[in-house]
Formats: sequence, C-alpha cells, structure tokens
Amino acid sequence: MAHPKEEKTVIIVKPDGVKRGLIGEIMKRVEQRGLKIIAVKMIQADKPLIDKHLPKSRQWIIDVGNKSLEDYKKYKLDPRKHIGTADPFKIGMLVRKWLFDYWTSGPVVAFAVQGVHAIDMVRKIVGNTLPAKAEMGTIRGDYSVDSAILGNLGKRAVHNIVHASGSPEEARNEFKKWFKPNELHSYDRADDDIMF
Ligand code: TYD
Ligand code: MG
Repeated sequence: MAHPKEEKTVIIVKPDGVKRGLIGEIMKRVEQRGLKIIAVKMIQADKPLIDKHLPKSRQWIIDVGNKSLEDYKKYKLDPRKHIGTADPFKIGMLVRKWLFDYWTSGPVVAFAVQGVHAIDMVRKIVGNTLPAKAEMGTIRGDYSVDSAILGNLGKRAVHNIVHASGSPEEARNEFKKWFKPNELHSYDRADDDIMF
C-alpha cells in the first residue's frame, strides 16, 4: 500500500470549466484542502482519447442511466416522453454518446493530485455528478444548476465543469491515459509539517 499521503487522483477541468475561467478556482480549492498538485496539462481531447477515458462496463452505463432516472422520479416526469425510454442501459448509452461532443468541445485541463485520501477528498470538493443536486460549497454546486432532465431534453451531456476519478481503479486507469510517468513531479509543500 502506498503511504496515505501519496494517494493519487486525476482531476480534469472540462471544456465548460475552462471556457468559464474556472481553472484557477478549481486548483485553489484543491490546494487549500492540503492536497498537492503534481502535474498539470492542457489538451484538446479527441474522440479516441475520450473513448478510452470513459468506462465501457455495462454496470457503469446502467449506473449513469439510473442516476438520470432518479431525477424523473423526483420531479414526477415520464422519461419516455423526454427520451423515449425508461431503460437505464439505453439512457446510459445515450449519455455516453453525448459525452463525446461535450468532452471534445474545447480544451480541457488535466491535473494530477496527491495527498491524504486524495480520491475521496477530491470527490467531496467536486460534489454530486448532477449540479442541481450538488451541495453548496462544492465546485458543481457553487457554479451550476444543470440537471439530468435539462441535459436529456437538449440531447446533450450535463455540463458539470469537472471530472474526478471515482475509485482507486478509475484513478489508476486515468493516470495511464492522461499522463506519462515523467510528467508527474515530486516536491515538498511548505505547510506539510504544520498540517500533519
Ligand atoms: P458518472 O461517472 O456517473 O459521474 P461523475 O462524473 O460524478 O463520476 O457520469 C459520467 C458523466 O456522465 C457525468 O460527469 C456527466 C454525464 N451525465 C450526463 O450527462 N447525464 C446524466 O444524466 C448523468 C447521470 C451523467
Ligand atoms: Mg465517474
């Protein structure tokens, strides 16, 4: 097991976050929590990179579909009228397709982050997948109200500003896809000894 201070995760500011000038704000929130940024790069992603980045498992697709369906239940709307189906797999597949346009609509900024429980801590900073559900104080909650119903109605992905690895397995895979080993840096933060 890696030392607890060395857990690593990937954050990517999506094209809407870049175009809205939120790169600095997102970095600031990560750094102020005591997490260390160990790599930064701006990339215009293409379809093959995004296809590698997005999970392909049936379970992930169904989970995405179910997250979308929860909103229809909450607001008592019929998903069949909006997207022609109530099948989580079919909805997940539609979202996966829409994600290509979203992810390639402009440059993204990927950064690698290291620190205590980095994967979970960054997910907390980022907030719920759907900005309309995200708590105030999170990036998605503070900067958006986009929702699954609105996204589906427009036949587009939800614009949720930022991506963050959701699990240790996702983090490992995303490091391989977004960074070369020699792009990761090692340095001491001045506040390290005082914080921990
Ligand atoms: P997911 O991995 O479940 O969320 P997270 O980004 O929090 O890990 O979903 C991947 C992306 O799919 C999510 O960032 C935005 C998009 N998405 C939609 O466009 N519409 C939806 O209804 C849902 C649930 C997700
Ligand atoms: Mg995810």
